[in-house]
Amino acid sequence: MSLLTNLNGVIDTTATVSVLDRGFLYGDSIYEVVRTFQSRHFGLQEHLDRLRQSAAYLYMDVPWSDQHIQAEVERTLQQAPWQESYIRIVVSRGTETKISLQPSPALQPNLLIVISEISPEPKLSETGIHLIISGRRRNDRQALSPAAKTGNYLNNLLALLEAQQQGAQDALMLNAQGEVTEATTSNLWIVREGVVQTPPADVGLLKGITRHFLWRILQTHHIPCEEVILKPEDLWSAEEAFLSSSVRLMMPVNQINEYQLPQYPGKITQFLWAELLVLMAKASHSFEPNIASLSI
Ligand SMILES: Cc1ncc(COP(=O)(O)O)c(C=O)c1O
Repeated sequence: MSLLTNLNGVIDTTATVSVLDRGFLYGDSIYEVVRTFQSRHFGLQEHLDRLRQSAAYLYMDVPWSDQHIQAEVERTLQQAPWQESYIRIVVSRGTETKISLQPSPALQPNLLIVISEISPEPKLSETGIHLIISGRRRNDRQALSPAAKTGNYLNNLLALLEAQQQGAQDALMLNAQGEVTEATTSNLWIVREGVVQTPPADVGLLKGITRHFLWRILQTHHIPCEEVILKPEDLWSAEEAFLSSSVRLMMPVNQINEYQLPQYPGKITQFLWAELLVLMAKASHSFEPNIASLSI
């Protein structure tokens, strides 16, 4: 596998972290996944903003400036002989000198950047994927908030494995009130009677950066859209459904439980896909730093 690592500034092919790293011991870390498009990182500023929000949830210090992290990402990308990259930016609270849940006061956070090769041509899947509604609930907002992107993804991983045991490819998770939140590593969108719908952040989900850009496209093109609380039964009248995330961008859904989506990828899904690529191409040709604040 084509992979490069940058651990605290040292670029290599296989960084190793200590067994006393708190990310390893407790999942005491935060991370972001970014992709390149036309060889340039896309939405990095938005991802760094969310990284800092995740840090705040964990009372964690991120001592580097955005400019420093961006420069390290770019320096690592420059070493890659391939065209398009998956970029993972991980900050762990640091490496302990002894095992203790209590963070030691002298801890220095670790900054790890991992990049790996991805397909040079993003393509919208023509087959789509099959989702189940998991019996496993999304983390409660009053526990480890789903709005924080942390190194502790076990709950989502278990939902994913359980979906696969049932012959599906991914799982939708409900909150404690039985409302639909999101899939294990992506946000959910459906189209009903021509209206694009996605669950609001306060049901307890990760506010996806791709979700933010898709929302902007919907607004620009005056496509009817709303953030709305969805119950499982609302999904049974969807004309289209898709997931959004930074690397896959958009993934059409062909089935949720027993319900077969009539269109995949549907017309609105295809339109949004095309516009998302236009938006990404524009961003990759612009040298202005992207400082749009997250409206959704
Ligand atoms: C739980 C969860 N929801 C949504 C997303 C999509 O977020 P983004 O579009 O920023 O990649 C992710 C991405 O990894 C995720 O892990």
